[in-house]
Amino acid sequence: MPREILVTSALPYANGRIHLGHVVEHVQSDIWVRAMRMAGHTVHYVCADDAHGTSIMLRAEKEGITPEALIDGVWTEHTADLRDFGVIYDHYSSTHSETNRGLTYRIWRALEQNGHVESKPVKQLFDPERQMFLPDRFIKGECPVCHSKDQYGDACEVCGSTYTPTDLIEPYSVVSGATPIQKESLHFFVKLADFEALLKSWLEERRAAGGLQSEVANKLKEWFADGLRSWDVSRDAPYFGFEIPDQSGKYFYVWVDAPVGYLAAFKELCESGRKQELGPAHFERFVRAESDTEMVHFIGKDIIYFHTLFWPAMLHGASLRMPTAVNVHGFLTVDGAKMSKSRGTFVNARTYLDHLDADYLRYYLASMLGPTLADIDLDLKAFEERVNSHLVGKWVNIASRCAGFLHKNFDGKLADTLPQTARARYGAAAARLEACAALYEARDYAAAMRAIVEVADEANAYVADHAPWTMAKDESRHAELHTVLTLALNYFRLLTIWLAPVVPATAARAFEFLGEAPNRFTAARTPLLGQGINPFKTLATRIDTRQIAAMIEASKESMQSPDLQTAPAPQPSPHGGGGGKLGPPTISIDDFARLDLRVAKVLVCEPVDGSDKLLRFELDAGDLGKRQIFSGIKAAYPEPAKLVGRNVVFIANLAPRKMRFGVSEGMILSAGTGGTDLFLLDADQGAAPGAPVK
Ligand code: MSP
Ligand code: ZN
Repeated sequence: MPREILVTSALPYANGRIHLGHVVEHVQSDIWVRAMRMAGHTVHYVCADDAHGTSIMLRAEKEGITPEALIDGVWTEHTADLRDFGVIYDHYSSTHSETNRGLTYRIWRALEQNGHVESKPVKQLFDPERQMFLPDRFIKGECPVCHSKDQYGDACEVCGSTYTPTDLIEPYSVVSGATPIQKESLHFFVKLADFEALLKSWLEERRAAGGLQSEVANKLKEWFADGLRSWDVSRDAPYFGFEIPDQSGKYFYVWVDAPVGYLAAFKELCESGRKQELGPAHFERFVRAESDTEMVHFIGKDIIYFHTLFWPAMLHGASLRMPTAVNVHGFLTVDGAKMSKSRGTFVNARTYLDHLDADYLRYYLASMLGPTLADIDLDLKAFEERVNSHLVGKWVNIASRCAGFLHKNFDGKLADTLPQTARARYGAAAARLEACAALYEARDYAAAMRAIVEVADEANAYVADHAPWTMAKDESRHAELHTVLTLALNYFRLLTIWLAPVVPATAARAFEFLGEAPNRFTAARTPLLGQGINPFKTLATRIDTRQIAAMIEASKESMQSPDLQTAPAPQPSPHGGGGGKLGPPTISIDDFARLDLRVAKVLVCEPVDGSDKLLRFELDAGDLGKRQIFSGIKAAYPEPAKLVGRNVVFIANLAPRKMRFGVSEGMILSAGTGGTDLFLLDADQGAAPGAPVK
């Protein structure tokens, strides 16, 4: 029975770029959508940018643009990145839309009317300078447990303790630097406890139906055991979001209108006229509680709470249908570790696309993705080897080895019939791959890829055993050769049909070569016979290690440049006068905090043989030990020995640099324009070697 299914991926925040972690999720859902469509179901696939919240408001402010301009620029970039990864949404919206406002209000009013809303005063930290309440992430201070400085308001990154912002010692606002004060304000809450029984039965029912993984169900049970506290859904102005109806100065917390954005995107699709079978009435039928359609969400393991407690509760409280499935995946790691900006393994979607084909990563991810919450490791070596061996070596090669012989000997035409043994062989392989339909649906892509690779191995063994290149030399084996080429190319076609959800662009090129465009898995049951195929053109090339190295290198660089094209033009320097020099763009206190500036005492300072610019310093950097630094200030300091014993200031956490004369472990700061116009910075008497400069 064909089903109607709405599929979503979590809405990416509009304050950052799409990175390979996001790609895992969108590729996982896109493969599912393509596979379910090829299985004959009707699928609507929507997503949107999550455009609201404090971070977006403050970021726009910092860049000197309106939040609307910021989220517009980000939307353009996000949609291009996802499209170029072959992730094709029927509609990609933004939560900052009138449709979403309307739906959010509709759900809110229903929650109110059904008595699920309460209000009470809440005490929170407030920035008296910027005149705003501060989310936990915008308050920093000394960790109350291990006393590390500059830790966030909710957790210490050094010792891992979690706490509330009011526990911080000497807290300060990340926004203005001011010391926050406690201030009271009225907040609105959704009474989650009202939904406990409902959520429990939803959980059991969904788990039994395969709509919730057992790991997720177990987490939910733990949360039930802890008791469901009311959910604080309001935030005070200034905030970028939807104002709560009849409550001026109060806004919906971003997590209220974010999931509503799933339905708003679908409503917009229904009303767009882009799909004939949809329309405004269809949307209403879809969202009513008794709907027999399906709503399937794909999310990462960090946002389970929002999707399995708040979201179903909101829907039910507004008498709307609940999710059919919440499919949770783990996190992407690279070479076994968390993605890291300094190692260059925090790779943006665009940086990847600048160096490598989208289908390569799609295939690798598919080969790693199972139905559990386990993290997915992008092992760069395995990525290269698997793509080269499986996609190019085992799949594309079947076609490239056989197509030429078919054109040379048979005018590019496949045989009209296959002898019994060849037909049986094909039938068995096709039957084996039918299992992939269920594996795709169960999101066990790794198992589906294993089955496909097994059949590919069989196909390659068949070609090797029958050696068409030998047969082609023997006129008497002409018919036999035609059979071998026809079966081999049908193996290729069979694999292409089952790989199509994973590598859509490459599969499209393969179908062009085969001269057909099957859009159903069932097409694989009957072999392609008696038909002419096109000359073979390269479908995929091997990955060269250097492409991967270049991507990692570029990821190191791109993190130093501004995040997005929406970054503001640098402001004219106040001292430069009209048309004067432009200063570098503003940075945040966090940017500054990343520099480890230290005082050091000069132990040795000497000219460097073979260099007319450099001086070699040996520094006593206190607890950091001794450091060697080469500095290009020789022209300004012709008598280096005189510098011994004095204080300098240097950057201690600059990546060490190998030079012709040795390794330079940092950079000494001096003022001036260069050449003889350079003056070393000093620190007043009493500053100890290794003392931090802040
Ligand atoms: N805006 C919210 C989601 C709202 S849904 C109504 C959000 N945005 S996010 O941009 O931070 O994350 C979007 C999705 O990407 C989430 O499902 C998150 O789990 C996923 N991922 C973010 N980093 C990831 C990895 N490193 N690996 C895999 N998925 C990751 O949360
Ligand atoms: Zn700590």
